[in-house]
Amino acid sequence: MRVPSTTRMVYWRSLAALSLVSGCTGTQSALQPAGAGAEQIAQLFWWMGGGAIVIWVAVIGFAIYATQIKSEAHSSRRAHWLIIGGGAIFPTIVLGTLLIFGLQLMPSLSAPAKSEFQVAVSGERWWWRVTYTTPAGDKVRLANEIRLPVGERVEFSLSSPDVIHSFWIPSLGGKVDMIPGRVTRLVLEPTRLGTYRGACAEYCGTSHALMNFHVEVMEPEAFAAWLEGQAAPAQPPQGPIAKRGQQAFMANGCSACHAIRGTPADGTLGPDLTHVGSRLTLGAGILPNDVESFVRWISHPDHIKPGVNMPAFGMLPKDQRTAIATYLDGLK
Ligand code: CUA
Repeated sequence: MRVPSTTRMVYWRSLAALSLVSGCTGTQSALQPAGAGAEQIAQLFWWMGGGAIVIWVAVIGFAIYATQIKSEAHSSRRAHWLIIGGGAIFPTIVLGTLLIFGLQLMPSLSAPAKSEFQVAVSGERWWWRVTYTTPAGDKVRLANEIRLPVGERVEFSLSSPDVIHSFWIPSLGGKVDMIPGRVTRLVLEPTRLGTYRGACAEYCGTSHALMNFHVEVMEPEAFAAWLEGQAAPAQPPQGPIAKRGQQAFMANGCSACHAIRGTPADGTLGPDLTHVGSRLTLGAGILPNDVESFVRWISHPDHIKPGVNMPAFGMLPKDQRTAIATYLDGLK
């Protein structure tokens, strides 16, 4: 029997789809969960995926049976029952079961947080403004980096000043939109230590694909020490180059947009740089955190992230840009 070309195409597409599943591992995978919410979502996915495969095989089996094996006219009574059974009763049972399964997951996904601190994240163009509120009620401002203690349910308040973004850490939980004029809520409970990757899951403009962040899930003691360190003011510049860098930072107007706690820099338009040298990446998850990347970013941020609000400072002499970079890299 010669397989029709459309059927062959379906086979190849199915094989291609299966090969893509093998790419669903790593630090940004909803199918390799490291959080309570992600585990439930993955479970739902596997049940739905498994069910879809079973139904697909049954439907294709029926089609082959009816067209190739027993291609004769059926009685109108059997056809009638096939339509009622296969077209109404069966889908109602399947969709009803899925609905009940999905609904019973919802309360546990949105159950209240238990942590003593909260995290507010605002989607900016194109980076993430992160504010921790400590148990003492202090606000700790940072950017493009989130750290969480393992085993604690943490509440996130999500917002945006202008366009819609979507906050998603696939390994830890579901995604929630950040909508201008509203504050949305997400509760995450990491269950495994490690570094995971988050991304914006809603097209928000030119550099939508360039707003990422890393999430480090730590032991609770290490997390508490980290948060305490982030709450502290910036370290004074170490060495003559870093000192010149700090002067150049203030003299060239960087402080109008960026804050460095403990210095006169108190701008709020751009990311808080108080401990920028300790972050896992630069430019919202797109550059390694080193002096060379700082120089690149300061010189031509628009080449690295099209549409970025930060102006280019490529006109400054190279030694000044290097000094600023050295100063920022030292802000551990
Ligand atoms: Cu922010 Cu897409």
